[in-house]
Amino acid sequence: MSLAIVDRLKTIRDQSDTVLRQAIELIGAGASPILLEAMSHSLFAPGKRLRPILTVFAAEACGGDIENALTAGCAVEMIHTYSLIHDDLPAMDDDDLRRGLPTCHVKYGEPLAILAGDALLTGAFQVLAEGYPPRTAAVSCVELARGAGAAGMVDGQVRDLAAEGRVGGLDMPRTLAELEGIHLRKTGALFRSCVRLGAFSALTERDSGRLAEVLPILDEYARAFGLAFQVTDDLLDVEGNAEHTGKRTGKDADRGKMTFPGLVGVAESRRRARELHEQAIAAVRPLGDAARALIDLARLVTDRDR
Ligand code: IPE
Ligand code: IPE
Ligand code: MG
Ligand code: MG
Ligand code: MG
Repeated sequence: MSLAIVDRLKTIRDQSDTVLRQAIELIGAGASPILLEAMSHSLFAPGKRLRPILTVFAAEACGGDIENALTAGCAVEMIHTYSLIHDDLPAMDDDDLRRGLPTCHVKYGEPLAILAGDALLTGAFQVLAEGYPPRTAAVSCVELARGAGAAGMVDGQVRDLAAEGRVGGLDMPRTLAELEGIHLRKTGALFRSCVRLGAFSALTERDSGRLAEVLPILDEYARAFGLAFQVTDDLLDVEGNAEHTGKRTGKDADRGKMTFPGLVGVAESRRRARELHEQAIAAVRPLGDAARALIDLARLVTDRDR
């Protein structure tokens, strides 16, 4: 990875933290200090901030402004953090380590962890609604609801747990196509919202014709990016270690989770991740130089140890 992109990622991470602190002030005025503490414990733990970064790079590929896109990127980061808090609960993946720290329920107890997640989820929509002009706010809220909700991330989590036999009423997924369907929902749907919100922040008020042109390009990038990301997440559970990832490893197989390496092995999973990486890069070629950062970011997703 070039030094220039490493520097840019650090800058956007720092900017994201500033915007997230403003968001907590906005949504937390008058809230119980212990609730804000539990929300902040998970939100300001050292995450990679990939979702704000992706949102900013998508906006940049559309000629948009970084600061304007950060509002949306941080709304997605709040949803993502809520999803991690709930994902780690005993009723779900039952994890005790996240972003290098004790999970929210380990530190604050299950009731407060559930509610801290709820507050981050609802707060994300307030951030969008108050952060943009009405038209951009409206389309962004709808998009984030779709990406995070019953036909997006939440459904991915339902299918993920069904594959472990812990949600009834659904057929057990068995095929690679079904596994990719889980991954595209549980992880890919929010990445798709990132690129779309980045595009909305850049173009909704300015050029709806151009917006309609870029959305299919960004959607295809996000599909390949999101799938490559989750295949790599599955690989890190097998091959990574907690010191780097900041979360326990070696748990998916024990739980009987349906994962890429579990279904097709490590070598084939690596091959698939490389193939998806190529697809992500190819998708944004029509955007030319403006998509340089998106191309660099796609590499980061497969070549990572955390
Ligand atoms: C972890 O996401 C959860 C998945 C969707 C697999 P990240 O790997 O982006 O986690 P953070 O934000 O860096 O903690
Ligand atoms: C989590 O997937 C996806 C969401 C939180 C929506 P995982 O369960 O694989 O994530 P990790 O490995 O715990 O970070
Ligand atoms: Mg999970
Ligand atoms: Mg998990
Ligand atoms: Mg995982």
